[in-house]
Amino acid sequence: MEIGRGAAPGKIILFGEHAVVYGRPALAAPVTQVAATATVEAGPPRSGLQISAPDVGEQVALAAAPPEHPLALAVRLTLAHLHIAGEPDWRIVVRSTVPVASGMGSGAAVSAALVRGLAAAAGETLTPATVSGIVYEVERLHHGTPSGVDNTVIAYGQPVFFVRGQPPEPFAVARPFTLVIADTGVASPTKVAVGDVRAAWQREPARYEALFDAVARIVAAARAVLAAGQADALGPLMNDNHALLRQIGVSCPALERLIAAARDAGAAGAKLSGGGRGGNMIALVQPRTAAAVAAALAAAGATRVLITEVA
Ligand code: PMV
Repeated sequence: MEIGRGAAPGKIILFGEHAVVYGRPALAAPVTQVAATATVEAGPPRSGLQISAPDVGEQVALAAAPPEHPLALAVRLTLAHLHIAGEPDWRIVVRSTVPVASGMGSGAAVSAALVRGLAAAAGETLTPATVSGIVYEVERLHHGTPSGVDNTVIAYGQPVFFVRGQPPEPFAVARPFTLVIADTGVASPTKVAVGDVRAAWQREPARYEALFDAVARIVAAARAVLAAGQADALGPLMNDNHALLRQIGVSCPALERLIAAARDAGAAGAKLSGGGRGGNMIALVQPRTAAAVAAALAAAGATRVLITEVA
């Protein structure tokens, strides 16, 4: 019998990746076409807590899971937060349609769904800030010291203006806009890109600080444009942010190819999104140009293309 259920969307970074690690703001939005869910069922007495994730072929008993197991860590942190001592006899099934290792926050979405499912099973509803805090602890396993933008946007389920160490500012976009998200298919661990940027910043601090400041000005402009409902003006800002990300050193030939293809097919702007060196790019389109841009991206080698509306 199901006793609780939780869900969380995927996410995309719109502006400000990398600079956000250095205290500058970022804008991120949920991607609701993809999602993670966790359903909790009561298990037989003394069966303990079992977690299964059939999409990734995982099946773990909480009692036997090592401390650094991400699903087990999310469960342990949540049980502690809920003051549940011992191990309830629950069976949790985690499912996700968020593409893995692609900058869409699959790990954070799964963690957030788990946290919410467990809370629901315990008869509680947690605030987005609480969910975000627990998910951040799990994210640290993969990324070392993530800025916190992923867990925040996924837990709030709303576009957010995010500055590390400050309360996030969820905001409403005055007019919805359409993005095409395309995956280069090039696997690129965020941790490596972030580490390389750090080494470059240490070698040339003044140059990198100036690049991050320039990104911060674009993020501020983008926020104003979104609040005013002038989504069209986002395109040039995306192009400018991408130019800075190139200088920061996190683009790659596959990203450049997709970005050029999107612009040639009529996108109003395009940039890499997330850690870079591979992973995803995003393109701003009109609903009527979305299909043509998506087709051009597929023809240019994208391994997955998704059209989403940010509302
Ligand atoms: O690769 P993603 O989508 O998880 O994004 C990483 C974003 C960075 O700014 C590069 C790192 C961070 O911790 O914010």
